[in-house]
Amino acid sequence: ITKVERAVADLKQGKLIIVADSEKREAEGDMIGLADFVTPENVNFMIKHARGLLCVPMEKSIAEKLNLHPMTKSHDAYGTAFTVSTDSKETTTGISAFDRAKTIQKLSQSNDANDFYHPGHIFPLIARDNGVLERDGHTEAAVDLAKIAQATPVAYICEVIKENGRMARRPELKQIAEENNLTFITIADIINYRYLKN
Ligand code: 5RP
Ligand code: CA
Ligand code: ZN
Repeated sequence: ITKVERAVADLKQGKLIIVADSEKREAEGDMIGLADFVTPENVNFMIKHARGLLCVPMEKSIAEKLNLHPMTKSHDAYGTAFTVSTDSKETTTGISAFDRAKTIQKLSQSNDANDFYHPGHIFPLIARDNGVLERDGHTEAAVDLAKIAQATPVAYICEVIKENGRMARRPELKQIAEENNLTFITIADIINYRYLKN
């Protein structure tokens, strides 16, 4: 069993994992979970221990189906594909761990754009079609992992920020993963896994 298979097995059990991108890219690590298995407890853990921006990477077809269009015409330095922000209409203010878990769950299960408000407190991201083989970002890593897990291609992710407010780098990410019993992999691991399976 490879590291990626271990990570996918965890995700299918509803656990979170940590995925680091290249140290030549953002040099950041995101906690990642699959939307099919989201719980308020996991969202609460993420906003407490990861502390970044909670986003929801998804396959393009799902964003199109739910009418989640790009947030802006331009993009940031890394080309992160933010859509308009959103909340499920089954939420109240949208920001509690419970409300955010509901929105994430709805993004993976709904077939109706009218199930959502805009703006909201969740930030969907659109993955490139060929995943990490096309773009080596956390957006594609998360959606590729969902596909390998044969789950709905929707995930939830959040960057890991240290207590001092700085980004957690590779050695610290590994330590945080160990302390919290989370599997740690890199986007390079997913790229290698996909090459081996193709
Ligand atoms: C949204 C971000 C994060 O970096 C997130 O990991 C998605 O971006 P990317 O696919 O570029 O890694 O900016 O909070
Ligand atoms: Ca980023
Ligand atoms: Zn990222």
